Amino acid sequence: MRQFPPDFLWGVATSAYQIEGATRVDGRGESIWDRFAATPGKIQDKSDGSVACEHYRRWPEDIELMRWMGLKSYRFSIAWPRILPEGRGRVNAVGVDFYSRLVDSLLGAGIEPFVTLYHWDLPQVLEDQGGWPARATGDAFVEYADVISRALGDRVKRWITHNEPWCISYLGYGNGEHAPGHKDWSKMLAAAHTLMVSHGNAVKVLRSNVKHAEVGITLNLTPGEPASPSPEDADATRDFDGGFNRWFLEPLYGRGYPQDVIEDHVKAGRIPSSHLDFIQPGDLETIATPTDFLGVNFYSRAVLRSNRIPEEQNAPRTVFVRPDKTDMDWEVAPQSLTRLLVHLEKEYKPGPIYITENGCAYSTAPSADGRVHDVQRVEYLRGHLEACGDAIAQGVKLAGYFAWSLLDNFEWAYGYTKRFGLVWVDYATQQRIPKDSAHLYRDVVAQNGLDG
Ligand code: NOJ
Repeated sequence: MRQFPPDFLWGVATSAYQIEGATRVDGRGESIWDRFAATPGKIQDKSDGSVACEHYRRWPEDIELMRWMGLKSYRFSIAWPRILPEGRGRVNAVGVDFYSRLVDSLLGAGIEPFVTLYHWDLPQVLEDQGGWPARATGDAFVEYADVISRALGDRVKRWITHNEPWCISYLGYGNGEHAPGHKDWSKMLAAAHTLMVSHGNAVKVLRSNVKHAEVGITLNLTPGEPASPSPEDADATRDFDGGFNRWFLEPLYGRGYPQDVIEDHVKAGRIPSSHLDFIQPGDLETIATPTDFLGVNFYSRAVLRSNRIPEEQNAPRTVFVRPDKTDMDWEVAPQSLTRLLVHLEKEYKPGPIYITENGCAYSTAPSADGRVHDVQRVEYLRGHLEACGDAIAQGVKLAGYFAWSLLDNFEWAYGYTKRFGLVWVDYATQQRIPKDSAHLYRDVVAQNGLDG
């Protein structure tokens, strides 16, 4: 039996747009994902989040599932357009009430709420005024953080400002695969900057509104590993790690933006010069506002091969060297999680770390016996929990683990084609069936550890 530390925070994670549905109910404003999903060609199965898992209505049942699993905490996000339908200004009391009731019921079930403020559903009006590349959007975010933390801060102690700023900026403004769908490197870098500055400012607001607050940010960190010992592959790995991980970690921990990445952007003609004109005096200090923890979303690693051979210019930079892939084509690489955590601890000393998401997509459906035997997810979960245990044994201050996700749900540009849930959702009936992985997780939580 591998035991975890006594107060280890076991939980699951979800996000508002991916599970709630009810997008036109109770005064919720339009979000960029409503608009994006309604644009032909953007979502693989032409779906959207208007129904999703009907969590907006079925949340008591979902809390029951969490209680059955014995969870200590639930990480969910607040839909900004439910709170401030016009992005700023007028507060929609019905929206606030929804989360207030959710929080009360969680606490009643002995489950600690762990709130993410921004999990990608920007009010559309703010995108119309410039979106994340515009500093005003950051100011609006801080106002929203103020409003919601005043409303819930007497009961919610743990807060995450942004979820995955790399995805928000790169997928949303760089390659256009996510809402709002722009393809512009300058916008992408400006968006990332607004996100990070607004994170720092929100940390201060949350601290002043919430007694005993613990505030952090969640980054999606993907360790890069070279495909060969060649200097070219080492450089490809540096480049990947720079844009994906260091671009966010370095300024967060007071080191500013990585110069090598800026130079690469200029060399590749993505930005006109190495002068980042969106940085204003004081911004880097704001980004580096001390936090109480670091949230890490971990799914896979990237194995990098240099792309400099002329005939291979269009070949992908990332090559997967092992066969065990999930439905997302992401390699299963638990040892990279241990290495990542040990590296973070050594390099940045971030204080407590929470795995705020970890999980895998497999489509395993119910069998004739009515159960969902998601053998691969059981393996994935065990492997990654072992990896967490290894990191703790090496001195990493890992304080909790949140499985992604409680339910199968709307997987962004993939629609409902990818299933990440510990619990199966029959989208026709909204029936929920805990998969074998949910049963395993229930045992792990009960024993605060993993059978050998
Ligand atoms: C990270 C995101 O935060 C979440 O919304 C998404 O569903 C998972 N990764 C899986 O791709």
